[in-house]
Amino acid sequence: MERLFILDTSLRDGEQVPGCQLNTVEKIQVARALESLGVDVIEAGFPVSSPTDFNSVVEISKAVTRPVVCALARGVRKDIDMAAEALRYAKNKRIHTGIGTSDYHIKYKFNSGRDEILARAVAAVKYARKYVEDVAFYCEDAGRTDNVYLARIAEAVIKAGATVVNIPDTTGYCLPWIYGEKITFLMENVPNIHKAVLSTHCHNDLGMATANTIAGIVGGARQVDVTVNGIGERAGNASLEEVVMILKCHKSIRVDTRINTKKIYPTSRLVSSLMNMPVQPNKAIVGRNAFAHSSGIHQDGILKNRESYEIMNPNDVGLDEKAILLTARSGRAALKYRLSALGIEVDNGKLDKIYADFLKMADKKKSISDDDMLLLAGMDNTTLFRTNV
Ligand code: KIV
Ligand code: ZN
Repeated sequence: MERLFILDTSLRDGEQVPGCQLNTVEKIQVARALESLGVDVIEAGFPVSSPTDFNSVVEISKAVTRPVVCALARGVRKDIDMAAEALRYAKNKRIHTGIGTSDYHIKYKFNSGRDEILARAVAAVKYARKYVEDVAFYCEDAGRTDNVYLARIAEAVIKAGATVVNIPDTTGYCLPWIYGEKITFLMENVPNIHKAVLSTHCHNDLGMATANTIAGIVGGARQVDVTVNGIGERAGNASLEEVVMILKCHKSIRVDTRINTKKIYPTSRLVSSLMNMPVQPNKAIVGRNAFAHSSGIHQDGILKNRESYEIMNPNDVGLDEKAILLTARSGRAALKYRLSALGIEVDNGKLDKIYADFLKMADKKKSISDDDMLLLAGMDNTTLFRTNV
C-alpha cells in the first residue's frame, strides 16, 4: 500500500461558503478535531484576505502540533509575505501559492500570455521558498488547462522548489477519466515529477468531485484536497469521508491514509453544527439515512447478515448503531429486533398482535419511535431500561 496524504481545506475552501464563517475559537475547535481525525495537512486559511483570517491561521498554528498547517497565497509577494507571517508559530508549515493556468484565466483574468504566467509561477515559488521549505503550487483551473502547458508549468515549479503541485478542477468540469488522464499525463511527461507530490483538488459542480479525486489517485496523485461533508465553493469540494471510505472499501486502489475512520461521524457533526450547514439526509457516509434501512426485505436481510445490504460497517465511521428505521414498510424481523433492543422479548403470537397495531400506527405516522414501540408493546416507558439503538 502506498501512502496518500490528506489535505483538509474545510477551514479555507469550505469556510468561503456564504453563511459558513467561523470565529477563531470555532476554527481552533475544528482544527483540533481534524488533527485527531488524522489529516496530514490542514489548510487553515487565506491570511491576506482579512485580519480575521490572518489571526485564525496564527492561532491554529499554535493549537495543533502533528499536521502541517498550510496557508493560501496568490502568486504575489504581499500574499506570500502574509502567509509566512501568519504561519510563524506552526511546527510544520506550508505555503500554498499559485496562479490561473487555463487560457480562460491567462487571457481574461490576467490579460497575459503563457510564457509570462510561467515566469510568474516560478517567481512565486522561489519567493515562498525563501520563507519555508514546503511550498505547494496550485495551477488554478488546471481542469481546463492544456496538458502540455500544464506539464511545462509543473516541471518549472518543481525545479523552482515546489514540493507539491496541485491540479485543481476549479470549475468542476472534468469527467473522471479526463481528470485521471491529466494526472497520468503529468506523471509520464514531467521529467522531475519524482521530486514532488501531485495533488487533486476537485470541485463538485457536476457531482463528480469524489469520482475525479479517485481517478486522480489511480493516475498517480498522492495528495488529495478534501473537505468534511464536501463543503466548499458553490457545489463544494470532494468529500473527505467519501474518498477515505472508498479507499477502505476498495483495497485494489492500493493506497492508504492515516485517517481514524471512527472519528468521521463525530467530525462531520461538529463541522455541520458549527458551520450551520446541514448535511443532506441521503449524503453518502455521514447523512442521517446513510445506514438506515427502511424496506422490510432489507431490514430482514441486515438482521440475518449485515453484509447482505451493507458494504461498510457503520461502526467504522463512528456510528455505534444499526439504523433500522421503522416505517410501514418494515417487517416482523425489524420489529422483533427493535423490541429486543428495548429489552422486550416477545413470542410469535404477541409479535403478530403488535405488528398489526404497528401497521395501523405506521400508516398514520411517517416513522415509529422507541416510545411508540413501548406503547405498542403495552409497556410503561418510564420503568424500562432503554438501550441506545
Ligand atoms: O479551486 C481552486 O482552484 C482552489 C485553489 C485556490 C487551490 O481552491
Ligand atoms: Zn477550490
